[in-house]
Parts: sequence; C-alpha cells; structure tokens
Amino acid sequence: MSQNNDYIVIKAMEDGVNVIGLTRGTDTRFHHSEKLDRDEMMIAQFTEHTSAVKIRGKAVIQTSHGEMSTDDGA
Ligand code: TRP
Repeated sequence: MSQNNDYIVIKAMEDGVNVIGLTRGTDTRFHHSEKLDRDEMMIAQFTEHTSAVKIRGKAVIQTSHGEMSTDDGA
C-alpha cells in the first residue's frame, strides 16, 4: 500500500460525538470507537489497520480535501 502519513482532525461540536475506525481488508468492520465531548479533538491517521472512519454527531473535520462539518447539509 502506498504510504499516506496525513492526519485528519476531528473537532467535536457537541457532546457524544463518535469516531469509529473501520478495518482495512476484505472484512470491513468497526474496530475502535472513540467518544468525544464538545470541544474535544481527535487527530488521527489512516493506517494499516484503519481504512475508513465514520463520524456520528456534530463535528468539524479537516483533511487534505478541506474542512467540512457533519451538518453542512452539502
Ligand atoms: N490502532 C488503530 C490503528 O492503528 C488506531 C487508529 C488509527 C484509529 N486511526 C484511527 C482508530 C482512526 C479510530 C479512527 O489503525
């Protein structure tokens, strides 16, 4: 796999935002769930174990693709 060392930044805008890591490979399943309260942040990478991240709740996310909010309505 080509290496991508980029980080993504997730800032919780309400209590109880969930950041869920999904496994890489043929079997796509949850492997980690992190709960963030308002104004808490998580800085994370995609890794050998993590191919996708699901975010539930109101949060602002920064990636190399730009900044977006889960409630953008876009
Ligand atoms: N042990 C996980 C991994 O190395 C930790 C992790 C990395 C993670 N990125 C994540 C967990 C994103 C949740 C969301 O892949």
